[in-house]
Amino acid sequence: MKKIIVGNLKANMNMDKVGDYIYTMNNSINSDNEVVICPSYIYIPFFTNENFNVGSQNVSIYDNGAFTGEVSAEQLKSARVKYVIVGHSERRKYFHENERVMNIKIRKCLDNELIPIVCIGETKEERIEFKTKQVLRMDLLEILKDLDRDKIKDLIIAYEPIWAIGTGIVPSPKEIDDIALFIKDIVKSAYKINVKVLYGGSINTTNIDKFKLLNDIDGFLVGGASNNPNEFVQIINEI
Ligand code: PGA
Repeated sequence: MKKIIVGNLKANMNMDKVGDYIYTMNNSINSDNEVVICPSYIYIPFFTNENFNVGSQNVSIYDNGAFTGEVSAEQLKSARVKYVIVGHSERRKYFHENERVMNIKIRKCLDNELIPIVCIGETKEERIEFKTKQVLRMDLLEILKDLDRDKIKDLIIAYEPIWAIGTGIVPSPKEIDDIALFIKDIVKSAYKINVKVLYGGSINTTNIDKFKLLNDIDGFLVGGASNNPNEFVQIINEI
């Protein structure tokens, strides 16, 4: 099965590095898997080409109109964006996005034929208290509340334990597979659809081989390691 490998560049890279990044990606990817790069909004037009898809790191809860500083789903669609990361833990932490906001953003994506990559994950404390599954279930059901079943069949969930993001610490492969299956079961019983689940959190060139063959993981969301195009290509080509 084709995997989806998403690079989340976050607020990294200045204009003078964009050309080199794209050149390396264009000339070095040797993989049948689907590659998605999510740069900052301002670089999106440079990333639309045939070797990979472009995604957005965020989307507005508003449609086109008088919303200074916002970028709407319709605008993203018109810029040939295919995927949108929704509710990354950094957006929840620094911009106070909650499940209700995520639900609206997902609706905006679906109305504009954009595929949402919906992020969920437990904190370190929740994990220590064995609350991971409870937290993920509640979060997921709230985020996906009352969505149109016919529209969400392509939706993707990214399992990103907050304690694993940018820390170099990763769950065991078994833990990841177990949670992925758990997420798939929740969505299946609520919506009768088979959702794809990605794993994200400290994936790099040295640990990818431990995770790439997991049964229930349909791909990866790569943060830090996607900033260096050579490192990111190595991960992509290894999967
Ligand atoms: P990381 O980030 O790979 O740097 O841990 C993942 C993410 O934030 O999506």
